[in-house]
Amino acid sequence: MNACIRAVVRSSIFYELEIYGIYRGYQGMIDDKIEAMQSWSVSNILQKGGTMLKSDRCEAFKTKEGRAKAFQNLTKHGIDGLIAIGGDGTFSGATKLFEEHGIPIIGIPGTIDNDIYGTDFTIGFDTAVNTVLDAIDKIRDTADSHGRIFFVEVMGRDSGYIAIRSAIGGGAEGVMLPEHNTTSQDIINYLQEDIRREKTFSIIVVAEKDTPGNSMVLAEECRKVLTDKDIRVTILGHIQRGGAPSAQDRILASRLGLAAVEALKDGKKNEMVGIVNNEVHFVPLIDSVKENKPLNPDLLRLVKILSI
Ligand code: F6P
Repeated sequence: MNACIRAVVRSSIFYELEIYGIYRGYQGMIDDKIEAMQSWSVSNILQKGGTMLKSDRCEAFKTKEGRAKAFQNLTKHGIDGLIAIGGDGTFSGATKLFEEHGIPIIGIPGTIDNDIYGTDFTIGFDTAVNTVLDAIDKIRDTADSHGRIFFVEVMGRDSGYIAIRSAIGGGAEGVMLPEHNTTSQDIINYLQEDIRREKTFSIIVVAEKDTPGNSMVLAEECRKVLTDKDIRVTILGHIQRGGAPSAQDRILASRLGLAAVEALKDGKKNEMVGIVNNEVHFVPLIDSVKENKPLNPDLLRLVKILSI
């Protein structure tokens, strides 16, 4: 997020535009936490995780009155274009603000889940996957030395992007994704197959689904059948949402930030900027919310083939 904020601020200044930062997202828009930004306001943040503008969930912005108050504050500062960085929730709110008040808005996809239609990658996703891989590499040492089975639970409430890429990059024996109804029996079958092949340890990546801790239940089911196996669970949680951004994320965020400013300048109104096949790409903001971005089934096949 910080790399993107920096890019938006510096690109605006490059084009001699006035630029304001809105603190705590839509809540800050309603509460008038809006400040003019200069080039120096964003120095030394490129390499930092999180967001210097902070974030918030905002119930009030879901109401017409809340959005009217937010728009009033934007007008007060002379703001005539908005760049919104976020995921589904951010873009649904932005779409409503545009429909009701007509302010031109460009969305930039920022979520570790990578589940936004209209872009190959979202800001934060690559960093999250790298964090998971670092953890899996370390967990492997215990799994290997002690001959254990590990369930590594990763984020992704409705989306298996982090799980599938971590499973491939981490050399996992299996993966459970929200998009597929893999059952505990399927996982038991994989693990029994591993044992038959004389694998001495296994790693299964599990997406958290709606309840973090989902892997605990799965481990319990497996223990009932694989009684002589030492089965452990590691839930990675919010470490996936922090830390210094990867090179890929810094570059993606910088490209999207510049493209968003240029889009507003060129008169685009209600679109999301993403990256498709390494090129900047625009889709209507509403599509980014409504359309599904399905997982490539080849990736799941890859996990299965490479784990023999
Ligand atoms: O939407 C991104 C995400 O990181 C999900 O993968 C995860 O389930 C959720 O946020 C966690 O959100 P919170 O920290 O608000 O519980």
